[in-house]
Amino acid sequence: MHHLPLTAAAQLAEVVSEKQWLHIALCQWCHCNLFDALSFALADEDEGLLLMRPVYGKFENDFSIQSRLKMLYVESEGRKFFAPDIVKSYESRLAEAEAEGVNVKALLLCNPHNPSGLCYPVDTLLAILRFCSSHGLHVISDEIYALSTFPTTRTAVTFKSVLSLDLAGVIDPGSVHVLYGMSKDFGVPGLHLGSLITRNEQLQSAFEDIGLIHTPSGLSYHVGSLILEDSKFVENVIGLSRQKLSENYALVTRMLDEAGIEYWRGGSAGFFLWVNVSALLDGDGSDAEEKMGEKFRAQGLWLNPGVERGEHRGWVRVIISHDKVKLEEGIRRLIKTWKTVQHQNPCIESSVLPP
Ligand SMILES: Cc1ncc(COP(=O)(O)O)c(C=O)c1O
Repeated sequence: MHHLPLTAAAQLAEVVSEKQWLHIALCQWCHCNLFDALSFALADEDEGLLLMRPVYGKFENDFSIQSRLKMLYVESEGRKFFAPDIVKSYESRLAEAEAEGVNVKALLLCNPHNPSGLCYPVDTLLAILRFCSSHGLHVISDEIYALSTFPTTRTAVTFKSVLSLDLAGVIDPGSVHVLYGMSKDFGVPGLHLGSLITRNEQLQSAFEDIGLIHTPSGLSYHVGSLILEDSKFVENVIGLSRQKLSENYALVTRMLDEAGIEYWRGGSAGFFLWVNVSALLDGDGSDAEEKMGEKFRAQGLWLNPGVERGEHRGWVRVIISHDKVKLEEGIRRLIKTWKTVQHQNPCIESSVLPP
C-alpha cells in the first residue's frame, strides 16, 4: 500500500537524466504541509524568505501562519522578471532585510510561475542559484505545474527543472529543495499528495521525524500509485491536458489581443495568465481593487484582485483551465466590463511590466 514514494522516485529517475539526483528523499505529503514543515525545519520564527511578486498568494499562509517566517517580497524595480539581472533586485531586498536585522534563510521560486504561466530560462535559474550560494541561502523550488506545459509561441521559454541542472560549481546541491505535488498536473487535489525532493540528509531526517503528523491516507497512496504505475494512463491524461491548455491559451490570448488588453506574454505552462485591467481601478484609494472586483462580480465573474500581491495594482490572475465554452464567455464578459470603463475614461493608459 505504501510504495508510492518508490513509484514516484522511479518515475523521477526516468525523467531526470542527471545521475546526481538519483539519491533523493521522497516524502509524500500534502503540498501545503510540505511548505509548513520546510519552514519549520529550515528556519526559526521571524527569519526571512525572499520571493518575487506577483506570486501565488497562499504561499504567505503556508510559510507564515504557523512557522511565522517573514515574507520578504522582492520588487522587480523595472527589471525583467525572468532575466538573470533580476538577481540585483534580490540583492537589494536582502540588504534591506539585513539592515532591518532580519536573518534571511531561503529564497522561494515558483517555476512554472503562478500567476503568469511563464518559465524561468536556465541562465536566470543559474544566476539565482549562484546568488543563493554566495549568501548561504536555501533554494526552495515549487514545481507543482511541471507537467502542465504546452506549446505556445516560438519564443516562449520551455520549462526546465532545477533538478535537471548541473549544479557543480554553482551551489551545494544540499541547499536546493524541490517540491512537487500531483494535485495540478493530475487534477487530484483531494489526494493531498506532495513530494519533497532533496539531497540534504539533515532535512531528510527532520522530515522522517515529523512525517507521522502529515502522512496522507493509505487510500491516497494507493490511488497515487495506481496512477503513476499506469504509464499509458499518465501519457494520455497529461497529453490531453496539454492539448486543452494550449487551445485555451490560444483562445484567451487572441481575445485579449483583439481587445487591446495587456498581459504577460510568453506563457507556456500552468493554468493562468497575468492580466492588466488597471483601467478598471476606481481612484487610487485602498479599496480601489476591491471596487474593481465588484465590477467583475456584477458580470458574474469571480476575479480576485490583489490576491497574488502584484507589484502594481489592477492586475488579475485569469484561470484558463476551464471548459472552453465557459472560458470564452468569461473572457467576453471581462472584455465587456473593461470596454465600458475604457469608454468612460478614454485617457487611461495601461502600465507596462515586462516579463
Ligand atoms: C504554485 C502553487 N503551489 C502550491 C499550491 C498548493 O497545492 P495543493 O493544493 O496541492 O496543496 C498551489 C495551488 O494552487 C500552487 O498554485
